[in-house]
Amino acid sequence: MLSSSITATMIFTRFLIFLFISTAVNSTFYLPKSDMNLLEFSLNLEYFEAEYFLFGSMGKGLDTIEPNLATGGPPPIGAQQANLSLLVRDIITQFGYQEIGHIRAIKKTVQGFPRPLLNLSADSFSTVINAAFEIPLSPPFDPYANDINYLISCYIIPYVGLTGYVGANPNLSSPVSRKLVAGLLGVESGQDAVIRSLLYERANEKVVPYEVTVAEFTQKISQLRDKLGNSGLKD
Ligand SMILES: *[C@@H]1O[C@H](CO)[C@@H](O)[C@H](O)[C@H]1NC(C)=O
Ligand SMILES: *[C@@H]1O[C@H](CO)[C@@H](O)[C@H](O)[C@H]1NC(C)=O
Ligand SMILES: *[C@@H]1O[C@H](CO)[C@@H](O)[C@H](O)[C@H]1NC(C)=O
Repeated sequence: MLSSSITATMIFTRFLIFLFISTAVNSTFYLPKSDMNLLEFSLNLEYFEAEYFLFGSMGKGLDTIEPNLATGGPPPIGAQQANLSLLVRDIITQFGYQEIGHIRAIKKTVQGFPRPLLNLSADSFSTVINAAFEIPLSPPFDPYANDINYLISCYIIPYVGLTGYVGANPNLSSPVSRKLVAGLLGVESGQDAVIRSLLYERANEKVVPYEVTVAEFTQKISQLRDKLGNSGLKD
């Protein structure tokens, strides 16, 4: 895991109250320990994405839609339905179902763990946005307010997955885990492309109520990623 995944971890841990790394060794899985650690990191991320997309689009999460996948983990804090147009809602719903597939796929390969406690409150996102702008925005950024805000918050997410997986792939030693991560990577990059093009269409619109355009927001987020990642992957 090189700097790109460190960046991913740094951004991502703001939302995770506990990062689960299971210490259980399950003899039915013949994976090197290092592969298992990376896949378990991925599982944390996929839980996060699934809950954020499902709640954002439908106002309900794994507990309603796929309760067996939460395996008794606590429900996320502060998750809510976002104020989305039909088009964006449909897209995000599909992303949510893709993430459900990812959780299932990872749990077939590693033993996994119950859903971690996630903090998906608007405050968690506004903290990241404030870090990107290096000053607190007033009023605080609300990812759930409308299409543009939600898409901006989503701009952070598949990218986190993507850089995490690109960073992890060379470190995976077993073909089973490489195949799995390649599959996850493909879907994450598809999501990243969709979000980028939706934001690109709106690049010159102002993010209400700030006198700042969508393009400036995404640029600040990219800069934050570069800064945290140092010489990490560039866009
Ligand atoms: C990944 O591989 C690099 C280079 O071999 C090594 O420095 C790094 O510690 C490994 N990271 C993990 C998480 O195994
Ligand atoms: C969630 O995160 C926000 C922002 O970091 C923080 O203010 C809030 O206390 C957190 N909630 C919990 C229950 O940890
Ligand atoms: C929902 O979003 C629409 C369009 O982006 C906006 O006009 C409306 O004010 C928003 N509603 C609320 C309750 O924020």
